[in-house]
Amino acid sequence: TISALTPPAIMARKGGEPLVCLTAYTTPVARLVDAHCDIVLVGDSVGMVLHGLSSTLGVTMDMMAMHGKAVRRGIEKALLVIDLPFGAYEASPEQAFANASRLMAETGCAAVKLEGGEPMAETIRFLTRRGIPVMAHIGLTPQAVNAFGGYKVQGRGEAATAIERDAVAVAEAGAFAVVLEKVTEGLARRITETISVPTIGIGASPACDGQILVVDDMLGMFADFRPKFVKRYAELGQTAEEAIAAYAQDVRARRFPAQEHVFADTPAASRKVPT
Ligand code: KIV
Ligand code: NA
Repeated sequence: TISALTPPAIMARKGGEPLVCLTAYTTPVARLVDAHCDIVLVGDSVGMVLHGLSSTLGVTMDMMAMHGKAVRRGIEKALLVIDLPFGAYEASPEQAFANASRLMAETGCAAVKLEGGEPMAETIRFLTRRGIPVMAHIGLTPQAVNAFGGYKVQGRGEAATAIERDAVAVAEAGAFAVVLEKVTEGLARRITETISVPTIGIGASPACDGQILVVDDMLGMFADFRPKFVKRYAELGQTAEEAIAAYAQDVRARRFPAQEHVFADTPAASRKVPT
C-alpha cells in the first residue's frame, strides 16, 4: 500500500520542519494520531504498553502483525512503520528479509524499523536494496536491555564515538531515517549535523530533525512510569480511574442505570426512532 507520505518524502524533510511521530497500536488511536503526524510507528513497546510485559523481549511477530493490521485500518496520510521484534532479524539479512516482507505483505506498512548500529548495517543494506525501506534505531536500544544493564542514558563521554559511528553506518547502509533514543544533546546534534537522513529523537533533545513519543506515555495513561524525556499532554489514566470509580459507586448505589438508559415496554409515541 502506498501511503500519502513515503520514505523518500520523509528523507526530503531533513533539516526542514520537524517530523512529528507517535506510536499507535489500535485503529481508533491510529485515526487520532494520523490526523497530526508524519510517521505512525507500531512499536514493539506494544508489549509493555498493552500486554503487560516487563520488557520488549517477549514481543512476537504475530503481535506486530496483528497490531500492524489494526493500525493500518486507521491510517490515511502518515507513513506507517512497524518494528521488527527481538529475534526476528538479528540472525541474518535473510531472516530479516523474510520477517520484514511478511509484515509489509500482511499489514500494508511501507517500512520497518530495527534496532542496532554498525552490526546491523549489512542487514539494512540487504533490505533497502530489495525494496524494504528501513528506519534505524540507535543509542538506547531497549531490545538490548540485558546487555546494557538497564535503560540508561547512552553516549556520555567516550561512548559517544561508537554511537556516531553507528549513525553513519546505518545512514550509509540506506536507512531513510534514524531514531536516536536517550542520548545526550551534544551527541544528537553532532549526529544530526553529520548524517544526510533525518534523525528522530526520543529523549534526545530538540537538536533532532523530528520527535517521537509512545502515545500512551504522552497521554498520561500510567501513574508509575514518568521518564524525564516524556512530556505528559494529558492525564488520561487519572481521568479513566475517576470514571471507573464513579461507575462503581453508581452501580452500588443503584444510581445507574437511570431512567434515560432504560428500554420502556411501550415506545414513546412521540419518538421518531423506535427504542
Ligand atoms: O517501540 C517503540 O515505541 C519505539 C519508539 C519509542 C521509538 O521504538
Ligand atoms: Na521499539
